[in-house]
Amino acid sequence: MAPGKPDNQHLPDDLVELLETRPEICVLTGAGVSAESGVPTFRDAQTGLWAKFDPLSLASPEGFAEDPATVWKWYSWRRELISRVEPNDGHRALAGMQDALPGLTLVTQNVDGLHQAAGARDVLELHGNIRRTICSRTRREIPAEWLEAHSRDHPPPSPHDPEGLARPDVVWFGEALDREVLEAALEAADRCRLCIVAGTAGTVEPAASIPRVAARAGARVVDINPEVTEIGRAADWHLEGTSATWLPRIAAALSGSPGPG
Ligand code: APR
Repeated sequence: MAPGKPDNQHLPDDLVELLETRPEICVLTGAGVSAESGVPTFRDAQTGLWAKFDPLSLASPEGFAEDPATVWKWYSWRRELISRVEPNDGHRALAGMQDALPGLTLVTQNVDGLHQAAGARDVLELHGNIRRTICSRTRREIPAEWLEAHSRDHPPPSPHDPEGLARPDVVWFGEALDREVLEAALEAADRCRLCIVAGTAGTVEPAASIPRVAARAGARVVDINPEVTEIGRAADWHLEGTSATWLPRIAAALSGSPGPG
């Protein structure tokens, strides 16, 4: 390594060179980024949430209409689990990068709010946030106090609509994403010079298109994942391993300081 360069002996030289230009960056994260906080991923065979549940019976409007109590209990369990976990080094590295580089846009598929808990701001939550509850008919937010005054075994009635029920503010299979959030994410992908993808299987659209939009606009793409995915195969760099290992190194190269070992 040339003297004075951050000792990122792990990062490819050409990636370090690009980071040192402090480029506009678009980050896309998935469930893998929260895995080291103890939040099971969706598709990890051993612990994946979907391995235990039928996704369509739990994370779809049809599933909720058919059995609201089971869906409500599953989300209550997930919310409880998430309330007990902490952000990890990967979340913290991204929050630090955002501080160092105002041109960094953080897009996530995760609904756990851990990026914000680590200090990240203006996070584009493509799939919503499990910590927020809305009315199933008006989609207006329902305050926590209202929820606490009702049983946890089935969704409370909505305070906004007599026909409505409380439901998590997440995008279910078959539902549309928030248009403004999606447009902002796609614009960031189109504008960036570097797209950092971390912890996603890249199987769910339109999130999986973010790195393709970036590449098509001439950006370089780096994928962080212990596995090789479609995104990793198409990327300029695939950093094999965990986001808690690689994101601090990228943050260090961006700030030009010697990276963690
Ligand atoms: N660091 C980085 N990546 C990891 C780690 C880790 N510590 N652990 C697992 N991974 C990778 C896995 O190899 C996998 O490719 O993270 C990915 C997790 O994939 P999924 O569980 O499919 O999660 P994700 O890609 O975010 O799913 C997208 O699908 O179910 C819907 O709405 C849900 O937002 C979710 C979307």
